[in-house]
Amino acid sequence: MSTPKAEGRAIRIAPSILAADFAKLGAEVRAAEQAGADWIHVDVMDGRFVPNISIGPLVVKAVRRHTELPLDVHLMIVEPDRYVADFVDAGADVVGVHVEACPHLHRSVETIKEAGARACVVLNPATPASHVESILGDVDQVLVMTVNPGFGGQKFIESALSTVSTIRGWIEERGLSVDLEVDGGITPETIGPAAAAGADVFVAGTAVFGMDDYKVAIDTLRRGARR
Ligand code: DX5
Ligand code: ZN
Repeated sequence: MSTPKAEGRAIRIAPSILAADFAKLGAEVRAAEQAGADWIHVDVMDGRFVPNISIGPLVVKAVRRHTELPLDVHLMIVEPDRYVADFVDAGADVVGVHVEACPHLHRSVETIKEAGARACVVLNPATPASHVESILGDVDQVLVMTVNPGFGGQKFIESALSTVSTIRGWIEERGLSVDLEVDGGITPETIGPAAAAGADVFVAGTAVFGMDDYKVAIDTLRRGARR
């Protein structure tokens, strides 16, 4: 099937606070909102599912007080079901769980929805699109990783884009309203191909918080996605 054009879909830019200055996180999040961010992306790492440790519900709760924007919480943790309610109580609007960490994926998705958040399922770059094919009608969002999760500032993995186009095809064929997000190595150069493959939500850590002017950074990404 032909790949639908990026035009016509709302482009959302979700700066990842992983690249922000954690010593002044409130100010960083407010600055991103002022600069035109659509969502705030929060990376939760447990040192087990990924080889790095980041933050937990306490930080989500602290960030919640500084912005009205949707908080898109990406759980890179084993046994995510155990913590879903804590993150929703802390203020998460979207909760993403990795299919590689969920032996009972449908139950995990229901756990998120019952807790009152939008449910997102996440695929590592080497995980086939087929792993979310049957659950697509039950989720609000799919996130395709374009780096191996665990660290910011890594190089975009181009081969993950075929997963994005396959999933975009299913969403269109079935007339679903599922957001399709990409995360990792998103820059003004890589965002265009990701948008052309069918993504409509773009996480960017280094390409926003690593820049001097967040507004210029976000505007440049948005333009890149429309090109
Ligand atoms: C990677 C995280 C990403 C990361 C993106 O494990 O899930 O959200 O913060 O950072 P950049 O945009 O720098 O690749
Ligand atoms: Zn992330």
